[in-house]
Amino acid sequence: MSESLATVSYLGATILFILCLGGLSHPETSRRGNLYGVIGMTIAVLATVFGPRVGGAGYAWIIAAMVVGAGIGVYAARTVQMTQMPELVALMHSLVGLAAMLVGFANYIDPAASAQMVGAEKTIHEIEIYVGILIGAVTFSGSVIAFGKLSGKISGNPLLLPARHWINLVGLLVVIWFGREFINAHSVSDGMLPLVVMTVIALLFGIHMVMAIGGADMPVVVSMLNSYSGWAAAATGFMLSNDLLIVTGALVGSSGAILSYIMCAAMNRHFISVIAGGFGTTGGTPAAAGAQPAGEVVAITAPDTAELLREARNVIIVPGYGMAVAQAQHTVYEITRLLREKGVNVRFGIHPVAGRMPGHMNVLLAEAKVPYDIVQEMDELNDDFPQTDVAMIIGANDIVNPGAQDDPNSPIAGMPVLEVWKAKTSIVMKRSMASGYAGVDNPLFYKDNNRMLFGDAKKMLDEVLASLKS
Ligand code: TAP
Repeated sequence: MSESLATVSYLGATILFILCLGGLSHPETSRRGNLYGVIGMTIAVLATVFGPRVGGAGYAWIIAAMVVGAGIGVYAARTVQMTQMPELVALMHSLVGLAAMLVGFANYIDPAASAQMVGAEKTIHEIEIYVGILIGAVTFSGSVIAFGKLSGKISGNPLLLPARHWINLVGLLVVIWFGREFINAHSVSDGMLPLVVMTVIALLFGIHMVMAIGGADMPVVVSMLNSYSGWAAAATGFMLSNDLLIVTGALVGSSGAILSYIMCAAMNRHFISVIAGGFGTTGGTPAAAGAQPAGEVVAITAPDTAELLREARNVIIVPGYGMAVAQAQHTVYEITRLLREKGVNVRFGIHPVAGRMPGHMNVLLAEAKVPYDIVQEMDELNDDFPQTDVAMIIGANDIVNPGAQDDPNSPIAGMPVLEVWKAKTSIVMKRSMASGYAGVDNPLFYKDNNRMLFGDAKKMLDEVLASLKS
């Protein structure tokens, strides 16, 4: 393939990636958006593989790598549960970071990569390598820790080292100083020491940054690492002088940054402090030290729940992580359909951080074919709870915790929540009195107008559905 055809293909792929992002912004257009992304990526891979830079023995390596990569991808797609998606995403971000690091080192060692470069051009190339490895290393280790936290392998409690902001600052200064050493190095062997030291510091920084974040703030970390992985890819693009990688990385980086901003607003955190990395602990005590269980709860049965729903005129369903665990979305849809047929006004209230990844609930409800027009954002319906007869909370906990408004010492203090307790009756479906991801007790459970429907959400909803039908 000629250079110009490869360039045109890259341009086409770039346009398709932009259309893909545009499509993904709404459930109705998301399938089309995904398709644009797939076509764009196919063109990008083909244009790269058959482009002017690859030839001869390179094909054998590429085919072998693609077979292994595709095999792992197909296996993961078939075996990973929907509830494990956030961990998988974190793991994939870590691979982008690792790739940026490895490409950076390979680029530095490869004599051909900078053979013709002198003066300013050489310096710029070295800065690209240094910054690329830096971002890649932070993304890699941060994402591995995020994977550990999301999968429960690492505790969600924040690790608070004394003077941690000073440690970060010293780390940053050392990285800058070694950056100067690296650029001034006369040979690859001279430059290798500063590069390795910086990589180790960057890896430790990534670990420290994510370890210091409490469970309640993980949504921001997930979207922030998404953004970092984009910048790591863009940095790789600069190192390899690959325009498509630069543009694609910038698209991912900036859309991830916008998502981080949205997540910050949803969690009531400050964007700047998030970017600086030191966040998630200023609002209160570590997650596990939340309020202790207090008061009595009133349990309800599935037939009584069905009775309340049957008599209601307005119902708001609030899904959370437990709905994903129980895979209850299809039964939720059946119940919704039945109630709507009976003239009940049913809507869904979606909290921006419900579940374990952005848009988690929307994906599940779309999969179950719940109409988009009754799925509303928290801000759209939060004022409607006083006119609601039944608020049905399915496997949600933190996102309906009134303590976020009432208890300034709560780790989730200040986080906007769905005000379900203002409905005539709220019904919480969960298996036990266990706390949610943030590890805090929920005063909602003890309110006079709240009922607890204990059990697996799918099982209980099946019983509610059976009672509604009878
Ligand atoms: P959580 O607060 O984690 O509560 C989920 C509840 O579901 C748990 O209390 C659990 O109680 C219940 N549950 C689990 N399995 C169940 C099952 N099979 N049947 C019925 N109930 C079940 O979830 P949420 O309200 O969706 O809030 C999300 C939390 O995750 C927030 O703290 C958020 O910050 C955090 N987070 C979000 C993201 C993103 S981007 N969305 C990323 C990382 C973290 P039982 O064990 O008693 O059943």
